[in-house]
Amino acid sequence: MTDTNDRVIAPEEAADDKTLDLTLRPKKLSEFVGQDNIKKNLRIFLGAAQGRNEAIEHVLLYGSPGLGKTTLAHVIANELNANIRVTSGPAIEKSGDLAAILTNLNAGDILFIDEIHRLNKTIEEILYPAMEDYALDIIIGKGPSARTLRLDLPRFTIIGATTKISLLSSPLRDRFGMTYHLDFYQNLDIKKIIERSARILNISLPAEPAEEIAKRSRRTPRVANRLLKRVRDYCQVEGDGRLNLNHCLEAFNLLEVDELGLDWIDRKILEVIIDKFNGGPVGLSAIAASTAEDIATVEEVYEPYLMQLGFLDRTPRGRVATDTAYKHLGRKKSGAE
Ligand SMILES: Nc1ncnc2c1ncn2[C@@H]1O[C@H](COP(=O)(O)OP(=O)(O)OP(=O)(O)O)[C@@H](O)[C@H]1O
Ligand SMILES: [Mg+2]
Repeated sequence: MTDTNDRVIAPEEAADDKTLDLTLRPKKLSEFVGQDNIKKNLRIFLGAAQGRNEAIEHVLLYGSPGLGKTTLAHVIANELNANIRVTSGPAIEKSGDLAAILTNLNAGDILFIDEIHRLNKTIEEILYPAMEDYALDIIIGKGPSARTLRLDLPRFTIIGATTKISLLSSPLRDRFGMTYHLDFYQNLDIKKIIERSARILNISLPAEPAEEIAKRSRRTPRVANRLLKRVRDYCQVEGDGRLNLNHCLEAFNLLEVDELGLDWIDRKILEVIIDKFNGGPVGLSAIAASTAEDIATVEEVYEPYLMQLGFLDRTPRGRVATDTAYKHLGRKKSGAE
């Protein structure tokens, strides 16, 4: 089975992305490319809170991996000149862990909880009064003599991030004053992101290679930055270090990433449906078996982008390859002229 993190076009953070992510992460709202609607709303929301000298309401950010949730959380903190504490749903195991974090916050601080859908239920229940009333209920003692002590907390702000908003319980969701959905980027914005990254990394990047990288980035900034880095490496070894179109295309060939950002596993999935199952409908488990991937990986990692491109339909009877998928793979539908 393939480790999905080895895929050059995987949107999830891979081990060697960490430093790249940090270097390239925009710090100010003005450097954050695209997502214009969110930026417009945020400017007003942040400006108003600052004008009143108040902590902002809790903010929930959701969207697919690599679209900029962590980046935006840090941008918000930076715009407010606020301290940011970073934690994540799975990292808070015991109620004491959360109590320790909360009691150490100062007024105006931001607590960033990544993967907030993975908080366990008991922890979530401590968060409710903390978010709503800025209070922490601590139970002292056991049995009949147990009593609750209520501690006041400073006015702080939680920024939660999740890739799976549907897994968030509705009482938790309701406690966020603002919810922003990060969408996939326009090609033009991805190009701007690549050009910005090239400037930071001191890469001279002509327009054509920038466009080719953008086309293959699956509309995701993290993928775009990673492809830029791979192409840069290729041009350094095979050429004089400057990015030219030919080397760029050779690099994509070597990485087996086609002009829409599909890699060999994506293509394999489509080929299985088209060649083995005559275009479908075919069940998910049959696709998984034929590609030697597990069912959840096919469903959660590969299918979303294929569906977004309009190559794959999910029907009650199974998956169906669309006409555009046939065209992309250069196949003719049997029975068609
Ligand atoms: N709007 C943007 N403008 C410029 N660069 C961006 C933008 N959004 C994301 N990036 C770049 O993409 C990288 C990945 O973004 P980030 O880590 O914020 O994604 P994420 O949504 O938190 O992903 P995950 O769900 O995996 O945690 C960042 O390091 C940054 O370099
Ligand atoms: Mg993140």
